[in-house]
Amino acid sequence: MITLDENSLIGHGTLRACYLHPQNRELIIKVGLPGRQGGDDANRKEFMSYKKIRQSHERLHHISHCHGFVDTDRGEGLVCDCIRDSNGEIAKTIWDIVVYQETCNIAEIQEAALTLCNYLIANDLFLFDINLKNIVLKRMQDNSCRAYAIDLKGPFDNKEFLQLSSRIKLLGRKKLKRRSQQLLERIIQFRAQRELLKNSEK
Ligand SMILES: Nc1ncnc2c1ncn2[C@@H]1O[C@H](COP(=O)(O)OP(=O)(O)OP(=O)(O)O)[C@@H](O)[C@H]1O
Ligand SMILES: [Mg+2]
Repeated sequence: MITLDENSLIGHGTLRACYLHPQNRELIIKVGLPGRQGGDDANRKEFMSYKKIRQSHERLHHISHCHGFVDTDRGEGLVCDCIRDSNGEIAKTIWDIVVYQETCNIAEIQEAALTLCNYLIANDLFLFDINLKNIVLKRMQDNSCRAYAIDLKGPFDNKEFLQLSSRIKLLGRKKLKRRSQQLLERIIQFRAQRELLKNSEK
């Protein structure tokens, strides 16, 4: 059983909290948030989605790999890669950069996000919930940045009737293109509204 220390909490979404793995700094562990239904389910969906993606892709860039489940003192945990900047710092989400960082280079962030989106579209990786909180930016040695998707549960969370866009590639690509456009627009929009957004999270 792995004990997760509160000091090693990296962040949380609506369903899950993400902790640094106590024995391996290259890994994180996702567990359900206490008092929230659906965290375990999200972990299972994410792992299923990752395995499905791997069936058709031997090599994968721009994605945090999943390694399976472990028992923790906070319930069943999903182990995934911890994305770090080349200086060792844990990579920040686009949301944390755009909303909370005093200065940021919007054009550079948009370019990295677009590269990720084009990669997803070119490889039929139908991750439709590519929002600012589900993508981190890794700062590389040469000071460029690369975007990584850190939340892969989307394909098993598709709420559409019959889930057609996950099953018909043409529809999937179209939907992904719409979501990509929306992501790029939101990067600008959220930067402009950052004071409001910060206050709404307090
Ligand atoms: N691989 C990773 N490397 C670094 N940080 C991560 C990683 N995975 C998750 N995080 C951090 O944990 C947070 C929550 O993760 P995740 O998006 O998987 O949770 P969630 O509850 O499923 O989210 P949602 O609200 O989208 O349902 C992220 O916003 C990010 O701060
Ligand atoms: Mg998320």
